[in-house]
Amino acid sequence: MPTNTIFDILEKEHDKTRELFKQTESKRADHGNLFSRIRTELTIHMDGEERLLYPVLKEKEPTRDKTLEGWEEHTYIKIVVNDLVGMPREDERWQAKLTVLREMVEHHIEDEEENLRFRS
Ligand SMILES: [Fe+2]
Ligand SMILES: [Fe+2]
Repeated sequence: MPTNTIFDILEKEHDKTRELFKQTESKRADHGNLFSRIRTELTIHMDGEERLLYPVLKEKEPTRDKTLEGWEEHTYIKIVVNDLVGMPREDERWQAKLTVLREMVEHHIEDEEENLRFRS
């Protein structure tokens, strides 16, 4: 059986996050619950990347700049996640913030998949 590379594992986690965001498109979905699952996914995923992946890729010239950029994106993703945690669901900005989070995360994971996989 082929061994999963760290990239295969990370891509599976990316797909799971994409799927959860996709479910938020339904107006009837429980968005609070979906956000809480997205938050858990993102927290574990970003923590793993920051502890195990980014420190290695940051030291290699071909991946250095994109890794630093990705790391900064994590910082802003966490800010939006925390904003959502601290904001009542009824606030008219909550849904807009969730959409912004989705756009940030989708951009971030696309970049990671394109730029980091084949250059390490
Ligand atoms: Fe990431
Ligand atoms: Fe990632």
